[in-house]
Amino acid sequence: PMKVTLSRKAHFNAAHRLYRKDWSDEKNDLIFGKCNNPNYHGHNYELIVSVTGEIDPETGYVLDVKFLTDIIKTEVEDAFDHKNLNLDVAEFHDLNPTAENIVVVIWNKIRKRIASTLDLEVVLYETPRNFVTYNGK
Ligand code: NI
Repeated sequence: PMKVTLSRKAHFNAAHRLYRKDWSDEKNDLIFGKCNNPNYHGHNYELIVSVTGEIDPETGYVLDVKFLTDIIKTEVEDAFDHKNLNLDVAEFHDLNPTAENIVVVIWNKIRKRIASTLDLEVVLYETPRNFVTYNGK
């Protein structure tokens, strides 16, 4: 059967610091460099959420893009925008907020909200040149 991918772009600003509490300051500096700045630093995160599935013959949609937009707003924008990821977001209290870990957290939050018949992929840009992709595999 014919499958189509529907994508929606979104955006949030957030601060983070990459470090491990169980490592020395020297080791954190060595591994995480400037991203270990104790006073945190911000990124303009961009994401692309893509849902792949068969076209519903009645509506002609894979998924109503309004529904996907609302999920992204609730699960990502409301949860992360203008937040300090380390301090304000429960998922990162004990998880280093690298782009890799953030994209997995976002994927899991959206996955719970959409039908299991749909495939989901999330691409997260931390900078215009650095981005990560997760599709659940
Ligand atoms: Ni950073």
